[in-house]
Amino acid sequence: MRTVIGIDLGTTNSAVACMDGNEPLVIPNDRGNRITPSVVAINGPDDVLVGESAKNQAVVNAASTITAAKRVMGSGTVFTIGGRTYTPEQVCSYILRKLRKDAETFLGQPVQDAIITVPAHFSEAQRRATQEAGRLAGLRVRRLLNEPTAAALAYAYRTPGDRRILVYDLGGGTFDVTCLQKEGNTFSVLASEGDNHLGGVDFDALLLDRVLGEFERNSELNFRSEPILMQQLSEMVERAKIELSTSESTRILIPFFGGAGAGAPLHLSYEVNRNEFYDLIDALVRKTVKLTMAAVRSAGFGLRGVDSLVLSGGSSRIPLVHTYLKRALNLERVSLVNPDEIVAMGAAIQGALLSDQSDTVHVRDVTAYNLGVEIEGDHFVTILPRNSPVPARTHRTFTTVSDRQSSVEIHVLQGEEPAASRNISLGRFLLSGIQEARRGEARVQVSFEIDEDALVWVTARDLRTGAQQNVKVTPVSDGTGAALDIEVADRVAALVERVEQMYAQEQFRLDAEFRAEIEHTIRRASEATSGADLRALHECHLALETIIGELHVELGRSEAEQ
Ligand SMILES: Nc1ncnc2c1ncn2[C@@H]1O[C@H](COP(=O)(O)OP(=O)(O)OP(=O)(O)O)[C@@H](O)[C@H]1O
Ligand SMILES: [Mg+2]
Repeated sequence: MRTVIGIDLGTTNSAVACMDGNEPLVIPNDRGNRITPSVVAINGPDDVLVGESAKNQAVVNAASTITAAKRVMGSGTVFTIGGRTYTPEQVCSYILRKLRKDAETFLGQPVQDAIITVPAHFSEAQRRATQEAGRLAGLRVRRLLNEPTAAALAYAYRTPGDRRILVYDLGGGTFDVTCLQKEGNTFSVLASEGDNHLGGVDFDALLLDRVLGEFERNSELNFRSEPILMQQLSEMVERAKIELSTSESTRILIPFFGGAGAGAPLHLSYEVNRNEFYDLIDALVRKTVKLTMAAVRSAGFGLRGVDSLVLSGGSSRIPLVHTYLKRALNLERVSLVNPDEIVAMGAAIQGALLSDQSDTVHVRDVTAYNLGVEIEGDHFVTILPRNSPVPARTHRTFTTVSDRQSSVEIHVLQGEEPAASRNISLGRFLLSGIQEARRGEARVQVSFEIDEDALVWVTARDLRTGAQQNVKVTPVSDGTGAALDIEVADRVAALVERVEQMYAQEQFRLDAEFRAEIEHTIRRASEATSGADLRALHECHLALETIIGELHVELGRSEAEQ
């Protein structure tokens, strides 16, 4: 059976796991460590370091080192290094490629299929970017699994009995809280709250600002634009923060900090205790507790309470978090179960569930945002409320506002704000080819589908003619994730051409079943490139890439036989 690996692609650390029989197993990297820093150093197009080796050289090579690329996934931001630009997807693909390679070494076999976890509050663009990173790393991303759902799965999938589970996941860059109900073999997510930009790196930034502020006041020097010094200080600050989870106080000490200039050398020394640090992060931790209680309420856990609290993510080790959670949830104690590895383990379990035909455990997740469209006057109309179970499908009928109008633009967004402009744009879709009529007479039904990866698919149909293909849904590029779909049609067309060429050369060597599959896929792909169904395009894209891979294998085999 094909192995499906589970990958926790984290802001600061990543991990990969697989199943060993019925148990998830975290795979050590080439240095024997179970977690790999999500750090990438690009020293040249063919000289890329990932993980510990990248982290270790970060201080002396800050300008070529990228950390926390996950934070800017799907944002359109690029990194410029050595005159070249790299997208966050590319940077993350280097990390994924390394994890894949470590897994292949460990398992002694090639690995293609993966489950990649994402924060439950990742937007559509961030999810598509994660998928793209997987694709660039040569992986078939079988599912994007929400991180807290993965943690709950790893925590409870072998535990008998029904439970109300709360997952509090505070990592390096993101916060998620999810309430799940385990009933028999079914895990249903009931509610999910979170913040994509709240995590350990924010705590680091607050402490760094305090330390630097104090140093600047005393020395009247400013080092904020010195990448090497800042990198060095960042590392010391993070170390001090971690130390404060077990000690009452610690000292941040950097001898000869900025001592290269004229005059006496300057040492940086700052004594920080827990209370001072807690004061700095108090507002952010309170925010996580507020979101936790909102999730508890919308899950209906308020009265009977929570059976299991699962803490996930390195920052959930901070004692202040435990104090607040105990108080808010009325718990006597909190216990930590492997917060650094639990997400990757859950992803591996999900991988086994997908490849296992017996379907022993079911996972039902929900959408994290309202899905809606913009209507005149910058208003946002929800068409599918958040916390709806996925996959989900809904439709709305649109009409024209002027006579003989043959196209309508629909702006699809995600978010909670009443003003459309304050929500996250998924893209503008142009419905063209509408049968001409007087204003208000046209009836275009637009279907919105959210799949199990929480990706949104839009299709349209002219209700009067019933013609699906006549109404064309074209993403109008506005720099968001949906713009990818224009490219996908082009890519599918190019792949069809390539498969056709290879097939023309190879077909007499292939068995009938494979030939039929290829012909069928070419037909479907050709239809998809001229039609309006984005989902079909993505499916064909994947199918064609798989066929090309298999054709290469066949070609290699027949050459070897000759
Ligand atoms: N004992 C500790 N006390 C406080 N913070 C800690 C401790 N151990 C780790 N951390 C912090 O946890 C964060 C890393 O956690 P983790 O590896 O779970 O995050 P991640 O998976 O990379 O991020 P995300 O899930 O947000 O994408 C870092 O900010 C690190 O400094
Ligand atoms: Mg994480």
